[in-house]
Amino acid sequence: MKPVKVGVLGLGTVGGGTINVLRRNATEISRRAGRDILVTHASARDLDKKRICNTEGIILTTDPLDIINNPEIDIIVELIGGESLAKDLVLIAIANGKHVVTANKALIALHGNEIFAQAKQKGVMVAFEAAVAGGIPIIKALREGLSANCIESLAGIINGTGNFILTEMRDKGRDFADVLSEAQALGYAEADPTFDVEGIDAAHKLTILASIAFGIPLQFEKIFTEGITNISREDVSYAEELGYIIKHLGIARKTANGIELRVHPTLIPHRRLIANVDGVKNAVLVHGDAVGDTLYYGAGAGSEPTASAVVADIIDVVRALTTDPENHVPHLAFQANAIADIPILNADAIETAYYLRLNVQDKTGVLAEVTRILAEHSISIEAFIQKGPQQNDSSLPIIMLTQITLEKQMNAAIKSIEALDTVVGTVNRIRVENLG
Ligand code: HSE
Repeated sequence: MKPVKVGVLGLGTVGGGTINVLRRNATEISRRAGRDILVTHASARDLDKKRICNTEGIILTTDPLDIINNPEIDIIVELIGGESLAKDLVLIAIANGKHVVTANKALIALHGNEIFAQAKQKGVMVAFEAAVAGGIPIIKALREGLSANCIESLAGIINGTGNFILTEMRDKGRDFADVLSEAQALGYAEADPTFDVEGIDAAHKLTILASIAFGIPLQFEKIFTEGITNISREDVSYAEELGYIIKHLGIARKTANGIELRVHPTLIPHRRLIANVDGVKNAVLVHGDAVGDTLYYGAGAGSEPTASAVVADIIDVVRALTTDPENHVPHLAFQANAIADIPILNADAIETAYYLRLNVQDKTGVLAEVTRILAEHSISIEAFIQKGPQQNDSSLPIIMLTQITLEKQMNAAIKSIEALDTVVGTVNRIRVENLG
């Protein structure tokens, strides 16, 4: 059979890795796909830039449209990232009848509904395994491996840069900015690293996972998102004292009232496997009604780990080309006409436990005031630590773990606590999940 021809848009970390893996494993890949796969064309903004891959035999251009409009090419691999240009290019590729493989989570989270509708109309595939958790085949696991289950919840460390920063800060006492620069140099961080540290990248990925898990439209704008920039060294060590590790989690949970979708720093009991996922590694814990807990672990970013997912998608497209091209696995796992409009809960309706850290003046009755306010909002305290005065500071840190309560009650309680004359500064709150 004729080789399948592929055009790659973007020759950066992931584009270079994709070409390297396709070349190195060509024989093995052909045995799996049933046909040879040839990268014939590639585009890059600067053709003189030094590359991590060998581009010999590949026709290079600075204009992606040269590739998308080339009738010889069967599959377009979009690896330029970003949102608007990528969206235009992908829609033109689909209109031209080409199959698309992308690693672009922002593109799928923000424009996936439109892209999938166009792809369905044109009868082409759009595959995006590399968009979530790098090399971990979590989309395949959710969409195919767990398709017998009602998915009840998932919780994931889905941003490698953020996890790398938290791990290095905890283990080596390194400075936030210094670790972030290293993540950028290693090609883990987004072009705009605030996407990593403010949780936007994780929210893009959670949007995709939640749609596939629950059969709902992609709804990035409804995700409650909090980054890691306010996590201090003290919080990390107080959490450890209480038996917890702080991780930046993306959580999607089905409740009787709707679906919780949230990204925020979270205290997790240190004995949980996911609490021990360190560095740039990602992990996703999925709970299905039949299978129970399952955990998927691996490299969440980097050149070849991400290329592993991109190339697997290319192979899937090639396999589908040789079977029934009308009968694809649906983009969001559920048939397009069966996507459900289950409400996404407002952040106020989140139910979780909390870690609270506040500084109080060393005066009689302060604690009674704080606990009275919590009791008035039906918030029960699970554990409590009081420290002596800190260096150069007359105030005392108080650390509490609460039992599960409504976010709305906690917001009101924190407002009243911060209004007390005896409380210094703001209350630092981190959500707690036992994931048991
Ligand atoms: N910036 C992302 C991360 C890259 O650090 O996880 C992979 O999506």
